[in-house]
Amino acid sequence: MSQQSKRDPPPTTSSWDTLVDSTPGYAVSLSSEFMRCSILVTKGRAMATGITKREQHSADAISALDLRDEPFPLPGDSEAVTLSYVNKAPVEDIVADYSRKFMRLERGVEHALEQMPADSFVLGDNFYALNKLLHQDHKATLIYLDPPYGTGFDFHSRDLEHSYGDRMGQVTYLEFMRRRLILMRECMTSDGSIYVHIGHQMLAHLKVLMDDIFGSNNFRNLICRRKCSSKNFTRKQYANLNDYILFYSKSKQYKWNQPGIEPEQSWIEREYPKIDKLGRRYKLVPIHAPGTRNGETGKPWKGLEPPPGKHWQYSPSKLDEFDRQGDIHWSRNGNPRRKIYWVSKKKVALTDYWDGYRDAHHQSIKITGYPTEKNLEMLRMIVTASSEPGDLVIDPFCGSGTTLQAARDTDRGYIGIDASFMAAKAVMRRMRYGVEPMGDYVNGKKRLPKAQSLFHFDRTPAKCAFVVDSRLLDEYRGEVIGIDGI
Ligand SMILES: C[S@@+](CC[C@H](N)C(=O)[O-])C[C@H]1O[C@@H](n2cnc3c(N)ncnc32)[C@H](O)[C@@H]1O
Repeated sequence: MSQQSKRDPPPTTSSWDTLVDSTPGYAVSLSSEFMRCSILVTKGRAMATGITKREQHSADAISALDLRDEPFPLPGDSEAVTLSYVNKAPVEDIVADYSRKFMRLERGVEHALEQMPADSFVLGDNFYALNKLLHQDHKATLIYLDPPYGTGFDFHSRDLEHSYGDRMGQVTYLEFMRRRLILMRECMTSDGSIYVHIGHQMLAHLKVLMDDIFGSNNFRNLICRRKCSSKNFTRKQYANLNDYILFYSKSKQYKWNQPGIEPEQSWIEREYPKIDKLGRRYKLVPIHAPGTRNGETGKPWKGLEPPPGKHWQYSPSKLDEFDRQGDIHWSRNGNPRRKIYWVSKKKVALTDYWDGYRDAHHQSIKITGYPTEKNLEMLRMIVTASSEPGDLVIDPFCGSGTTLQAARDTDRGYIGIDASFMAAKAVMRRMRYGVEPMGDYVNGKKRLPKAQSLFHFDRTPAKCAFVVDSRLLDEYRGEVIGIDGI
């Protein structure tokens, strides 16, 4: 064993477990060189999983470098990264009251608006709409935004109507987003969350911006979402299949309902490979954890020392209880592991890689036909995870209104904003009549009259108020009245 260990590369942490299982008396039979390798690897994993300072500085920790040994001074640890460019507006100017007027249209009748109605779509630039919401004291528990990604393209609907442009330069885009994100922060409850859905183009810039506006301590996740299936890709680079969501909370106390997904049978069989006499599926997990301890979890249990650099995960009395209940599996070599049973109702916690929420990809999926329309199930999941029924959800770049539908379907209040007339049409149609199977657009079929519509509702449609920035109404009265008449 010790000879073999000299030839082999250092074992990985998982091979440690294999080793422990298959090597009787492992702790004494290892060579000192092997022990050193094992400890290094164990320490590597421990650091990656976040062990305490005391553990890092225990006798087996090795500091390779003094990172301060530089020819020029490094910035101090408490310095923050800031973005610097021209025309960066002061926060006071952004949150000042611009008193923009908004009108509500109701079947051809125009009403001056005192207060933004709950459950509404606002046609207009979201800077003024968010500013209005701020000064009317609307507070959202959840803000989801899917702004232009900074692609440099224009977007058209499936019927080839122009929907919106995405052609700002990088710095213009950043300051455009900064102003709106500051307003959004001011429109959030203290237990609120914000999700910024973005492509690879401006992801890094927006991460810095979000840290600046919301505080890096309120960063929760950078989610990677698989947006489409593999495609034929001919450029000299890797195919792009994902986009990203930056998830922040306003404070440490934020609403959270753990979302879970039903696992596939193949996953259950892979993760819970063993079956007991009663036909129950289970898996075996180690009962030790990284780091040494001086207390009872660092002492031998049933005469067995925890592996070097580790401690028992449970107190001896808890381990005794597991053992009494038959929940400890003893290998032939005397290595104890805990049995974890598969419970059929168990859902698997969602990770920060979302593979199950691709955008519409087959003919039976019901959509509005708006370009960049997002997956409704994904929005329902986000809304349920980060708000409660009765809370307000805001989507300031709402496009076809996917977030509004998700909020309505789950009994939340909603306000959606978009500056595009195409978006306004898509939202009002969706909120009044539902969505259509994608195939109808693809096959170029004519839209059915409302009465015989194939539009699909999961629930009875609720009223969605149609609100418009009065300047837009003055300038484009005909178009706006047309949308109201949908
Ligand atoms: C990526 S799309 C949103 C798609 C949406 N998530 C959906 O599911 O349909 C981005 C939207 O932002 C809108 N937009 C861009 N700039 C805006 C602004 N200043 N105010 C309001 N909406 C804006 C565009 O018109 C476009 O509809």
